[in-house]
Amino acid sequence: MDLPAGLIAALHNARSALVLTGAGMSAESGVPTFRDAQSGLWAKFRPEELATPEAFRDHPQIVWDWYAKRRENIQKVSPHAGYFALVEMEHYFETLLIVTQNVDGLHQRSGSTGVIELHGNIMHSICSVTGKGIENSWIKSNPGQPPASPHHPRGLARPAVVWFGEALPADSLNRAMSVARECDVCFSIGTSTLVQPAASLPFIALNAGAIVIEINPTPTPLSAVANFSLQATAVEALTAITSELSRGI
Ligand code: OAD
Repeated sequence: MDLPAGLIAALHNARSALVLTGAGMSAESGVPTFRDAQSGLWAKFRPEELATPEAFRDHPQIVWDWYAKRRENIQKVSPHAGYFALVEMEHYFETLLIVTQNVDGLHQRSGSTGVIELHGNIMHSICSVTGKGIENSWIKSNPGQPPASPHHPRGLARPAVVWFGEALPADSLNRAMSVARECDVCFSIGTSTLVQPAASLPFIALNAGAIVIEINPTPTPLSAVANFSLQATAVEALTAITSELSRGI
């Protein structure tokens, strides 16, 4: 794809980069997004019935099984070329921090080093009462859907993800916010920019004077104010950017 004039030059002047990613980043690896009309998870399922503490309290098995299916799917897919382009991009900036809303762990699987998981990780489990981590070995060796928690008599194992109505991990969020205020360039890739507080990160960066680059085939609330809004897929745009950067143009 042809990149808009000035984008690569803007990247050459940048030393610190923040990369916000959403479900669209994983779409080309075969992980469904949430809000895409037909294929999105929320088009098929009601979030309040599956992604809330109340839903887990009332229907633990339904919720556990739904997340187990998503885990199985994620274990079958692999990071696409866009992920490896982000790994390569680490060489062009002094610092590059990835802040993801995704729970699939694909950034880490592709080799990215600086990753903050704002919404947790679906491959991990925690105790529903104490929040303490539960080893996958315990999950495998203990029956029940979900298994009982080893940390509390009334506890159950639950996915280590942030559900609606739950707070994000404070340290991770504070770190993401401070990098947004200090970065030279902020990429917003594959997110509808609707779910707070993650959705505010590119706007914080913009207001702090950073160059904001959006990558999304569909317009979002950020598109009109971003310095560059690339209506393209993550693979198309990220591979085009790294190939230009590698040519040192
Ligand atoms: P959404 O499903 O809301 O948005 C995905 C975005 O990715 C859409 O704007 C698509 O246009 C775009 N997209 C689709 N395919 C793409 C591709 N190949 N390349 C680039 N972009 C593409 O997902 P999120 O914005 O991540 O939260 O949703 C945010 C949060 O809402 C999620 O983390 C989850 C959800 O409810 C919780 O569960 C707490």
